[in-house]
Amino acid sequence: MNNGFQRHRRLRRSESMRALVRETVLRKEDLIYPLFIVEGENVKQEVGSMPGVYHYSLDRLHEELEEIVGLGIQSIIVFGVPQHKDEKGSSAYADDGIVQKSITYVKENYPQLTVIADTCLCQYTDHGHCGVIHDGDVLNDESLALLAETAVSQAKAGADIIAPSNMMDGFVAAIRAGLDEAGYQDIPIMSYAVKYASSFYGPFRDAAHSSPQFGDRKTYQMDPSNRMEAIREAQSDYEEGADFLMVKPALAYLDIMRELKDRFPLPLVAYNVSGEYSMIKAAALNGWVDEQAIVMEKLTSMKRAGADLIITYFAKDAARYIGEN
Ligand code: PBG
Repeated sequence: MNNGFQRHRRLRRSESMRALVRETVLRKEDLIYPLFIVEGENVKQEVGSMPGVYHYSLDRLHEELEEIVGLGIQSIIVFGVPQHKDEKGSSAYADDGIVQKSITYVKENYPQLTVIADTCLCQYTDHGHCGVIHDGDVLNDESLALLAETAVSQAKAGADIIAPSNMMDGFVAAIRAGLDEAGYQDIPIMSYAVKYASSFYGPFRDAAHSSPQFGDRKTYQMDPSNRMEAIREAQSDYEEGADFLMVKPALAYLDIMRELKDRFPLPLVAYNVSGEYSMIKAAALNGWVDEQAIVMEKLTSMKRAGADLIITYFAKDAARYIGEN
């Protein structure tokens, strides 16, 4: 020490010096891009509340996939937006369901892409909840069988990873058992272990047509006020055999990410959700913020908080920025 203080600025004097000591770096391999696939033909339609995000029908999906592959993105997560909805969400586990057909199409034509299947019922049920309903309540154990069936149908279609987002208790154990029984013991489970009942999902529900038709999701998704509960949720999914843990949403829950990263030796995924995307897009479209700088800062903050991977609607933009540097 000189003059009684330390010179931290020594390591910030030039871009190359800053690069030399940079602790957190976002890589293209860290990015997972979400896709919304609708039934019908010749559809490419922008989601109203998510500028730059589109609904595609299967016959035009190659346009999006070419761009993704060209940018060097290696992983996608697929959401089906079905035409048919019923009480038990039967199109979620139909062999010819929109998500199953999409997975098979992608794996046949872009085998290098890792395809993650979101395993939930809410886009497929007419009531919009993530499980089976009885007397206005979402039944836990009765929903597990349908979720396991959905996961198996997705694995059968060719999914590389199963990502259950439904927040029923015991879903990892049930899905693991279902996959193993069907011969898919090598397919990993990326558990939405810690998923909060968040207002940041608004634009997604617009995109996936998955708003609950009555009530809300607070009896199964977590209370945003809770930290210890997140540890309990992650602990049980870890014990049930999850291969990845996820925290969702990301930005308002960076403390929870760090908490999980320090406690569980599994790859950690951040879901940078729709509302987090739309807020930045809206500000950027108004010229109020520097979009590129803000996107990179916030994605880097998730990695710094402990995320290994990030599901983000900014994946294409971020891959472009990384490519330019
Ligand atoms: C389905 C599901 C949701 C999201 C991903 N999977 C919505 C919800 O729980 O209502 C939200 C993703 C986003 O906001 O980007 N259960």
